[in-house]
Amino acid sequence: MIGSLVATAFWAMVPAYVPNNAAVLAGGGRPIDGGREWRGARLLGDGKTWRGTAVGTAVGVVLALVLNAVNDPASAAVGVDLPRFELPAAVALAFGAMCGDIGASFLKRRSGRERGAAFPGLDQLDFVVGALALVFLVDPSWATDVFALPVLAVVVVMTPVLHVVTNVGAYALGVKNEPW
Ligand code: CTP
Ligand code: MG
Repeated sequence: MIGSLVATAFWAMVPAYVPNNAAVLAGGGRPIDGGREWRGARLLGDGKTWRGTAVGTAVGVVLALVLNAVNDPASAAVGVDLPRFELPAAVALAFGAMCGDIGASFLKRRSGRERGAAFPGLDQLDFVVGALALVFLVDPSWATDVFALPVLAVVVVMTPVLHVVTNVGAYALGVKNEPW
């Protein structure tokens, strides 16, 4: 029971989990805020770039299509009817995750945090809030079907754990500058 909830939650959230990690690898180039400041601090900062956002979103969407392609064998292997991504839902999950992260940077700059500073809580959940908000907005029938309350609960508990593990791992591998 809990196992199938975790499998469903994880599968449904992969297109939201991966974009930020892909952005770390793809980042660079022009910052979205173009260097502009607002109230004495950068609007978003150099850590939010057009390239990182575009590549991150694209990687999330492609991954959703790959998951769809292997849905049958994967569902059979775990004994759970794993969700299939409708294209609008895939785009909303991936782009929403990037937007949540961008929104968090906006809040970090407003609270005087420099680029790369930690904001516990926000760092672990910004992309989940962004992804879920956008997918419920863009594809409500799919979202309510896949993200039933128990699945949502698992997502909220599981995500911060996965986030900490992947970021500490990326830091240890030298891919990321900070372990958050
Ligand atoms: N990145 C990007 N575009 C995004 C998100 C991330 O280019 N929309 C890249 C940047 O190179 C960034 C790195 O991924 O430095 C790590 O992302 P993140 O930790 O979110 O950014 P920080 O540099 O820590 O900046 P902030 O304090 O604003 O979170
Ligand atoms: Mg950071």
